[in-house]
Amino acid sequence: MLIMRDIKQMQDFSRKVKRRGRSLGLVPTMGALHEGHLSLIRKARHDNDKVVVSIFVNPAQFGPAEDYRRYPRNLKHDADLCKKEGVDAIFYPDAKKMYPDDYKTFVSVQDLSELLCGKSRHGHFRGVATVVTKLFNIVEPDTAYFGQKDAQQSIIVRKIVRDLNIPVKIKVMPTVREKDGLALSSRNAYLNKQERKDASVLYQSLKLAELLTKGGLKATDRIISRISEVIQKKKTAKIDYIAIVDTENLKAQKKVSGSCLIALAVWIGRTRLIDNIIICPKN
Ligand code: PAJ
Repeated sequence: MLIMRDIKQMQDFSRKVKRRGRSLGLVPTMGALHEGHLSLIRKARHDNDKVVVSIFVNPAQFGPAEDYRRYPRNLKHDADLCKKEGVDAIFYPDAKKMYPDDYKTFVSVQDLSELLCGKSRHGHFRGVATVVTKLFNIVEPDTAYFGQKDAQQSIIVRKIVRDLNIPVKIKVMPTVREKDGLALSSRNAYLNKQERKDASVLYQSLKLAELLTKGGLKATDRIISRISEVIQKKKTAKIDYIAIVDTENLKAQKKVSGSCLIALAVWIGRTRLIDNIIICPKN
């Protein structure tokens, strides 16, 4: 397995793969790999001749008061996992090479970036959109793999690809969860014992929303207030947002009709966690 820090070296590797008529899958990550990431890597491995995993803690997507500096980094651990999964190459670029001092170009997806997580993480999706576009240009994958856990991110990436005619196929894989339903996340490592216990309320509340809609409750404001009550019972929890939105344009829905995305962000102590499910009243 190759570990490449150099952008040109990465481009040469990809071009060689493509010249040989082989398919190339890319899994973009920020490292601290867990089973959620591995599920994407396994799918990429299954679908493609060659698999590249990018590991880059992207400074452009962190706000000044966010956890860029303390975000977990452990290349050895990540490389061991990638090797076990049969990854062909890790792209591990240097922040200074990705964003040199005279860097000026950003990709921003209007409207979609300002909703949900974009409201409290100003500039976050501009950073994500920029780095993902750069990674697509550097690696030139046939297919790139993303997780449903970051639903808004996946929707934005699909939009970039469509709007900018980038020749890459996007596949979105289901959220991998702990036994109690908590979505795996590199940020779960920040939780203390009590917070970890309380964190299961995110998924529990989403399941409650699903149950309520299946029981015939359609008014989204009522569903949201029912699940807010459940979350507020946890001492360490503070709601950032709960939203029931269209699965493509992320517009808030008044009634659940057809499939909707129910997404939430909740502070558990000092850690902001997100989760979502797609609810469909017909099932
Ligand atoms: P990161 O948080 O490392 O996640 C990398 C990919 O793994 C994303 O597509 C994310 O949705 C997926 N993922 C994370 N937890 C998951 C889980 N529990 N189940 C399934 N998939 C999961 O998302 C990013 O990095 C960055 O924003 C990135 C796209 C790399 C751009 O910097």
